[in-house]
Amino acid sequence: MEIDRRAFVTALGAAVAASPTAAEGSRPVAGAGLAPAGPSPYASYASGWSRGLRPVAGAGLAPAGAASGQADAVEGIEAFAFDAYGTLFDVFSVTALCEELFPGNGDALAQRWRAKQLQYSLLRSLMGRHRDFWLVTGDALVYAARSLELDLTAARRAQLMDAYLSLEAFPDVRPGLEALGARGVRLAILSNGEPRMLEAAARSAGIDTLLDTIISVEEVRIFKVSPRVYNLGPERLGVGRSALGFVSSNAWDIAGAASAGLTTFWIQRRAAEPPEELGFEADRVVAAITDLPGLLRAAG
Ligand code: LAC
Repeated sequence: MEIDRRAFVTALGAAVAASPTAAEGSRPVAGAGLAPAGPSPYASYASGWSRGLRPVAGAGLAPAGAASGQADAVEGIEAFAFDAYGTLFDVFSVTALCEELFPGNGDALAQRWRAKQLQYSLLRSLMGRHRDFWLVTGDALVYAARSLELDLTAARRAQLMDAYLSLEAFPDVRPGLEALGARGVRLAILSNGEPRMLEAAARSAGIDTLLDTIISVEEVRIFKVSPRVYNLGPERLGVGRSALGFVSSNAWDIAGAASAGLTTFWIQRRAAEPPEELGFEADRVVAAITDLPGLLRAAG
């Protein structure tokens, strides 16, 4: 029995790690020249995906602002809310530490950790058993290590969790936020993250001063893709739904926000990733945050 259970758990883990949601980073992409160097899963590049979408700025092949011909411009955006993990912060910047602690398993551990973190957030929301994202992230790490049969000592666990507080920001984040701020739109994070972990990551990446506010799901104690989460954006920023541009690299997050009526901008950090089959598409597809200012057109 025990052997069967173990085989199942291993197979399940592998399936999750291989699923589109789980495979964050396994189909690497970033705006041209924006990919971090080294073994990051974002480092190489596959061809773009455009079915049914309206790709903008050539999926990173054109310079930022290439959309400023205004053909693709969006009217009336008063604020932007950004997803945090995978959009602003590179969750796979922990891969190097994973590899250092568990040679030969760094990539698998980082991938499975992220996959389980997302899966647990969705499962807990369905179960009605909320636990904050810091704790969920810790639980996911324990599971991921166990599924790979790695010895996650308390010290290693603490080291890896600590790394989550200082994830690297993608290179387009700071210049993109600065340019948007200069256009006078309000800027926020809207994330599953627990407030203190979001604040720590924003501070560590040096973008805290560029943000007007950080909005956490802890206000409603349910995770994305609950509409209650996306509703927080317009409520807290005091703008209408369609006047809030929601920006995420996670296609499922874009579907959730679009379903809730926000105007959505999918940052396709992995160009080969197809959109989700959930009935909601992004209003615009961009390759980098630096592409967003060129899409803004004042209302009226
Ligand atoms: C977030 C996760 C879902 O920041 O990436 O909300």
